Amino acid sequence: MNDTIISVSHLTKKYNGFTAVNDISFSVEKGEIVAFLGPNGAGKTTTIKMLTTLLAPTSGSVHLNGSNVVTNQEEARRTFGIVFQDPSLDDELTAWENLEFHGVLYGVPKNIRRPRIEELMKFVELWDRKNALVKTFSGGMKRRLEIARGLLHHPRIFFLDEPTIGLDPQTRNHMWDYVLNLNKKEQITIFFTTHYIEEAEKVAQRIIVIDHGKIVATGTPSELIIKTNTKTLEEAFLKYTGHEIRDEEASVTDRMRQRRGRWHH
Ligand SMILES: Nc1ncnc2c1ncn2[C@@H]1O[C@H](COP(=O)(O)OP(=O)(O)O)[C@@H](O)[C@H]1O
Ligand SMILES: [Mg+2]
Repeated sequence: MNDTIISVSHLTKKYNGFTAVNDISFSVEKGEIVAFLGPNGAGKTTTIKMLTTLLAPTSGSVHLNGSNVVTNQEEARRTFGIVFQDPSLDDELTAWENLEFHGVLYGVPKNIRRPRIEELMKFVELWDRKNALVKTFSGGMKRRLEIARGLLHHPRIFFLDEPTIGLDPQTRNHMWDYVLNLNKKEQITIFFTTHYIEEAEKVAQRIIVIDHGKIVATGTPSELIIKTNTKTLEEAFLKYTGHEIRDEEASVTDRMRQRRGRWHH
């Protein structure tokens, strides 16, 4: 019996002479929730782009549910949904139209598409705004709509690359509740990156740490803490990478938000 759904073997990406991802191998089991952590510039986005057919590997291979992402791209694409750090919705379309367009693109038949869009828009609590233009949405609403869009074609794998960056803590929690619920309800495999260590701690069953394009650790949060002889996942991360998980910019934004919160309450 083989329950592997993501299989990565000797994956490498070079940008001109620079090696951004350096011969990494790992696999993810069906239904597993994996956090892919690393400091800024470690190679997380480059890896996820190769896993999702957006970037061609320099060498190595990726299989999603058995489909090779290079030689069997179409089939591989149907296995996953994705939410990226930069919103990629069409601002000039309504929320409904954005989902409808995606459904058509993925060939989801009309009789399935319509009820699925309704179900998902209710799930992310945007049903009452279905006819509003996306440009009128807040950051949190856009992210929720992207989640709905990423799930429209019933993917078996959900990739999220810093899906919560720039969102307030409440919205972040709310978003992870959706995703966890989804993992339970539909056994979707989740592979995500984040700069918030508490999200990895709360959500991930297993953590893969990447630094300078190399995998430097893999294990459950408690395994990583034990292996590094530390007390928290944050300390373990620091030991593996020599960096705080959040870069300056993210910490400053969070501090400002906290301060603002204090003033307004
Ligand atoms: N298109 C590109 N051309 C050249 N270098 C790139 C390109 N994209 C990313 N890089 C470099 O590759 C490294 C990994 O980047 P990235 O995968 O975005 O890291 P992360 O998502 O972990 O922050 C960084 O040093 C980055 O500057
Ligand atoms: Mg990135």
